[in-house]
Amino acid sequence: MKIAVVKEQAAGEARVAATPETVKKFIGLGAQVAVEAGAGLTASIADADYVAAGATVADRAATVAGADIVLGVQGPDVASLSGVNPGAWIVAGLNPFGDRARVDAYAAAGYEALAMEFMPRITRAQSMDILSSQSNLSGYKAVLDAAAEYGRAFPMMMTAAGTVSAARVFIMGVGVAGLQAIATAKRLGAQVSATDVRAATKEQIESLGAKAIFVEKVAGIEGEGSGGYATEMSDEYKAAQAELVSAHIAKQDIVITTALIPGRPAPRLISDAQIATMKPGSVIVDLAVEQGGNVEGAVPGEVVLRHGVKIVGHRNVPSRLAADTSALFSRNLFNFLSAFWDKEKGAPVLDEEIGNAIRLTQGGKVVNERLLG
Ligand code: NAI
Repeated sequence: MKIAVVKEQAAGEARVAATPETVKKFIGLGAQVAVEAGAGLTASIADADYVAAGATVADRAATVAGADIVLGVQGPDVASLSGVNPGAWIVAGLNPFGDRARVDAYAAAGYEALAMEFMPRITRAQSMDILSSQSNLSGYKAVLDAAAEYGRAFPMMMTAAGTVSAARVFIMGVGVAGLQAIATAKRLGAQVSATDVRAATKEQIESLGAKAIFVEKVAGIEGEGSGGYATEMSDEYKAAQAELVSAHIAKQDIVITTALIPGRPAPRLISDAQIATMKPGSVIVDLAVEQGGNVEGAVPGEVVLRHGVKIVGHRNVPSRLAADTSALFSRNLFNFLSAFWDKEKGAPVLDEEIGNAIRLTQGGKVVNERLLG
């Protein structure tokens, strides 16, 4: 059983899919691990650290030659996989809806592509959930990015020269990223409020010491669909939400948006007209910018100024904390593969529930029902 860890090819991707810690653990299971030279450098891991953990370090071709499993953060290009064993598993965040052509290419090449972002949200898979582990750090980083762009302080400070007032921070979308953003902004001393469409988040917001801003008395307020994810809201709800947000947003210094609906473009939460009501110098961070954006005028990969307000649209926020996000991502991959490790075969064997959820291709075909539907 050979596991290959490839260097990420996507522009701006600094993460790596294995650390010396997980390499050691895979070897402990009886696997052989090869790491592409330089794969960990942008995540602060030297080739020598992988070698010390027991891996071989080589160029791309030698790394993937004879591999049974290829690990990536993002999906590797099919062209760079020649020499991989027939039927090998490609295990990574594969962006199945956005990168369909690559999924088809994995099928055509006969690989079994396993999309880690399709991991079901069930208790036993929590430690394998890359969306949670990466979102958590994105929520933290979004607050730091906002603080860096903001020309004022977050905490209230009483100085001999007068008082600096606390920043008002509003978090829109209270999933994994939003909860961490609330906690981080609180730690920095801001006055924090938050909103979501899922009624269950109200208590979570309050338990973190923030103020919950919620649309009341509108049909469909529950907002919760399958797997704990949000659903698309009614027009009536959207109008009530827009009104509530307009009144609140004008008083905020920092707004962080994180709202996503699986399989759909991100919901539009802030219009240009609403931005115009904010004070000059305010900052908005749109964590959904790559999924279509929650904020009108947000540009992926840029910080833009609209009506004196900075709109931050960094791409791939987890990559901005590559050492920690790589460590968590790598553990997600190890937790996944080791949970299914068959000692006699010396290889992982998936069960139906998780296998069917994450397997995109098998036997030359696309087999995942979310892609066939
Ligand atoms: P997400 O990244 O899909 O969305 C972020 C947040 O945006 C969600 O809270 C969503 O309700 C909210 N949102 C969507 N449309 C909105 C709108 N129009 N206005 C305001 N907010 C809007 O969500 P994430 O972070 O993946 O978490 C979703 C849920 O799944 C959470 O309840 C989380 O606790 C749960 N979860 C369960 C896991 C498990 O059981 N294994 C693992 C991770 C999360």
